[in-house]
Amino acid sequence: MNLRLISLSLSALTFCTGAHYTYAENIKIDTQNSSLVLQADKGKKLKHLYYGGKISNEDVNNIRQAGGKIFNAYPDYGMLTMPETALAMIHGDGNMTLDLVVDGVSTRKENGADIRTVTLKDTQYPVTVKVNYKTWPNENVMETWTEITNNEKSPVTLTRFDSGYLPIRNGNVWLSSFHGNWGNEARLTEEPLTRGIKVIKSHEGVRNSRYDHAEVMFSLDGKPDENNGRVIGAALCYGGNYKLRIDTDETDSHHFFAGINEENSQYKLGKGETFTTPALALAWSDEGVGGASRSFHKWGRNHRLAHGNTPRKVLLNSWEGVYFDINEQGMANMMKNIAQMGGELFVMDDGWFGVKYPRNNDSQGLGDWIVDAKKLPGGIQGLINEAKKNNVSFGIWIEPEMVNSRSELYEKHPEYIVNADKRNPKFGRGKTQLNLDMSNPKVQEIVFQIVDTLMTKYPEIDYIKWDANMDIENHGSQYLPADRQGHLYIDYMKGLEKTLDRIRAKYPDVTIQACASGGGRVNWGILPWFDEFWTSDNTDALQRIYIQWGTSYFFPAIAMGSHISAAPNHQTRRTVPIKYRTDVAMSGRLGMEIQPDDMTETEKAQTKKAIEQYKEIRPVVQFGDLYRLLSPYDEKGAASLMYVAPEKDKAVYYWWKTRAHRNEILPRVAMKGLDPNKTYTVRELNRIDRKPLSFEGKSYSGKFLMERGLEMPVNHDVEKEMQSDWSSRVLYLEAK
Ligand code: GLA
Repeated sequence: MNLRLISLSLSALTFCTGAHYTYAENIKIDTQNSSLVLQADKGKKLKHLYYGGKISNEDVNNIRQAGGKIFNAYPDYGMLTMPETALAMIHGDGNMTLDLVVDGVSTRKENGADIRTVTLKDTQYPVTVKVNYKTWPNENVMETWTEITNNEKSPVTLTRFDSGYLPIRNGNVWLSSFHGNWGNEARLTEEPLTRGIKVIKSHEGVRNSRYDHAEVMFSLDGKPDENNGRVIGAALCYGGNYKLRIDTDETDSHHFFAGINEENSQYKLGKGETFTTPALALAWSDEGVGGASRSFHKWGRNHRLAHGNTPRKVLLNSWEGVYFDINEQGMANMMKNIAQMGGELFVMDDGWFGVKYPRNNDSQGLGDWIVDAKKLPGGIQGLINEAKKNNVSFGIWIEPEMVNSRSELYEKHPEYIVNADKRNPKFGRGKTQLNLDMSNPKVQEIVFQIVDTLMTKYPEIDYIKWDANMDIENHGSQYLPADRQGHLYIDYMKGLEKTLDRIRAKYPDVTIQACASGGGRVNWGILPWFDEFWTSDNTDALQRIYIQWGTSYFFPAIAMGSHISAAPNHQTRRTVPIKYRTDVAMSGRLGMEIQPDDMTETEKAQTKKAIEQYKEIRPVVQFGDLYRLLSPYDEKGAASLMYVAPEKDKAVYYWWKTRAHRNEILPRVAMKGLDPNKTYTVRELNRIDRKPLSFEGKSYSGKFLMERGLEMPVNHDVEKEMQSDWSSRVLYLEAK
């Protein structure tokens, strides 16, 4: 019998003959470092055979004989059903079963990517499901998603519609996931997988990473290790409600399902309609969780993040400096200050708009995006002119998906808000905030117009901070018909994506930040339209180490807004010296969130130096490979990480003391990712010590730095009045 093997890694199809035990059409889908193998016999169930490190065609030929349980690759509900399934629907006639079998396999190319599609069709009903896999020759990440098409005469109702499923063999598998709350986002949690179902989900509708993240890592060799062991990283790329399920069954096998959260979201699909699920991105690593992170960062920069390969500007955002107290002189003053400190961009935050309902606080004005001439008599153009005088770019804050009940927009169009018939809406922020119903094309047009009007009138706007400070809390669409109310969450996201598509088609170059009360929109599903996210409203340097650490598992430094703010910090009231604040902020996309007038001369000088030095290391931080060295979550008294340029000729090393205990011996941190054979010269950045460090200007081999490392002094050598319990170091390593 023939064993046909189709390998996506080969340009032509490879046909192997001679195997005598089975007939199978095995599909091998390769990334740079991994293979996924499926068995796709026509008329049979699509089977998952393998996901792991890259394997040879010969291994694929004999993979079934290697033993082990085999599961369906996209489990459907109804016939010999697994306890958990990826897809379920109610047919037009009420039948609740699916029986999907392979109909065909096809391949296509799209912008340098290979897309392999397995088409499944139901044995009785005209329903087809395309299971897609997208890979790139130079990436370790693959994306999988499905397209569900109904050709029945009457609508079918989708009750579950996952993007993908992955069986993970029994063993000592651990889960890394990310949870938190406002101001405390992306806390790392590590736990072994045990019997039962673990569900991580969002039901917020808008700010979907505010509490729990849609990304997880599975460590297959026990407790997660930064550098060693086999790891699968998985990110559901979706900005709305999501659900990740891990079911550990009676054989201790783990079944991972990821997709849009189906709760309160049954979706009707009319004849001829197709439902496309968002992508589930998967990365395989045999270099621990760190390897998976680096793969996600590279793939994200190259294929997901807007302008992922363009350096980001150093900015000052007005929020924590003046809050709602916007006025022309204040803005001009901030621009002058950021320019003097070497910054490149000024962003005017909330408070600049509203005529009948001036935005003096958070209880009114959203929806009325007209400049408040009392505060800004010269208008936006006046500010842009001022920015030009200071040789900085200009950016502006908007929250286009939202409205206050105290606004002219709401007075004219109460029918545009998310709200159920017969209900008085419950309000969010400011006790007046409401969501606009993005499922409504008229609302989509309004949101497009907000950006289009600003950008047409003021084409020099360089940056938009796009905020979203409310979840969908009133279920109900005044636009969707009664039998489609369940579409609200999904159609909201579709409407938003459509609008963002229009905005990006017309304004491809403007930088847009995704902010959602801080880190509420940290997800690869939203980032194709955005250049970065506001990592957290919490700008406290110490807590930021924890937040950014968790965020760094899936997201690169270039996307992580990281700002120097005031002391005491406005969120934690902690007083942290400027040196430490700059040293933390410099590990992400550096910016400022402060009233420069309140800074001391020393603080200003330190910040100026930091900005100047950040510009030097910017390519390494924003495009380099991340190596996490000492986790703050291990509570060893310090935390450390580094970025290494792809050529390994430059690296930036960060070390932050995280607590001050007398005579506690802090770990010496060995470096990672360097070239063992290169010799690196060490230079301290942001230095405040009277004497240079003992290793300043000295050279060491990459081998030495990675095996032994440099010992960081526990305190700074500074004048008595500058002494504190805070200590941090940034080192720049350059190879000769
Ligand atoms: C949200 C954002 C802040 C700021 C305010 C403005 O809270 O997260 O950064 O923009 O809105 O109202």
